Amino acid sequence: MGHRQNAKRSIVTGGMPAHRRRVTVCLRGGRATDGRDRDLVAVLSKTSGTPVAVFGGAGSGSYAAFVLRRIEAAGGAQRFAGLLNDTVAAGASIGGDTVLGPFDAWSSLPPDTMFLAPLQKPKLTHARVMRFAGLRIPDARWASVVDPAAIVAPDCSVGHGAFVAPHAVLMPACRIGRHVAVRQGVTVAHNVTVGDWCMFAANSAIGGYASIGDGSFVGLGAVVRDNVAVGRFAVIGMGAVVTRDVPDFTIVAGNPARIIGDVDTTVGEQS
Ligand SMILES: CC(C)(COP(=O)(O)OP(=O)(O)OC[C@H]1O[C@@H](n2cnc3c(N)ncnc32)[C@H](O)[C@@H]1OP(=O)(O)O)[C@@H](O)C(=O)NCCC(=O)NCCS
Repeated sequence: MGHRQNAKRSIVTGGMPAHRRRVTVCLRGGRATDGRDRDLVAVLSKTSGTPVAVFGGAGSGSYAAFVLRRIEAAGGAQRFAGLLNDTVAAGASIGGDTVLGPFDAWSSLPPDTMFLAPLQKPKLTHARVMRFAGLRIPDARWASVVDPAAIVAPDCSVGHGAFVAPHAVLMPACRIGRHVAVRQGVTVAHNVTVGDWCMFAANSAIGGYASIGDGSFVGLGAVVRDNVAVGRFAVIGMGAVVTRDVPDFTIVAGNPARIIGDVDTTVGEQS
């Protein structure tokens, strides 16, 4: 029995009617009934938020499901609807999350369903972007999912389909493109420009006025110097210290970061 068990606290959430603003959550260590560790169990009544179906599986899909449940527990306007996955059968479970069907099944879901495609795998982003383009999902059906514990400056623009995890910080005047995934603890400094379909792994940091091109991946704990321009579909290795511009489709790593390879856009993937 850890000391965290059954500890209670109040959290305050913004952007909601006054009678919903203060909610009580119950923090419990240990295992939930489905066998998974679970830290946050809401004692709120269910809300009828917009259902969001997530493209993915174990890893990025489960992570997005976790954040959507946190949003629902905090009284937010979204809830997790299920996973879309090309390799696991409809009705099966991935880590306790139900698979609704393959990617192509998106159009058969109820019309109020929104979608999220949080990217994860470096070097495979180009293939995945092409796959989603082929699905022809209307822009208006993509959700932006922002964890209640993320900090987003009011004048930071975030495109549709974005995923922003707990304790990410998006500073003033930064521009985040469409379908960008920002993991926990990431800092995007002021006046940074980020293209579409980028992925920032946990605890990476981007300095002020830097730019990150479409489809680029920034690895765990990597840092990018202010004013540096990272090209399109580049991969920045975990822990890299990027001090100079990075060309399109290159892989860089180390401190200071050097080119260690190229991104092969002919390599595909299955979900
Ligand atoms: C940079 C990266 C993409 C390279 O992957 P890869 O092309 O498969 O390269 P390899 O693992 O074969 O490594 C090639 C060489 O680069 C080195 N290397 C790989 N990643 C490195 C890194 N981040 N920093 C320094 N050196 C690195 C390897 O040690 C190896 O060196 P060697 O040839 O002297 O043995 C990968 O290592 C990486 O950092 N991925 C990001 C991981 C991440 O952030 N995951 C979060 C997911 S949410």
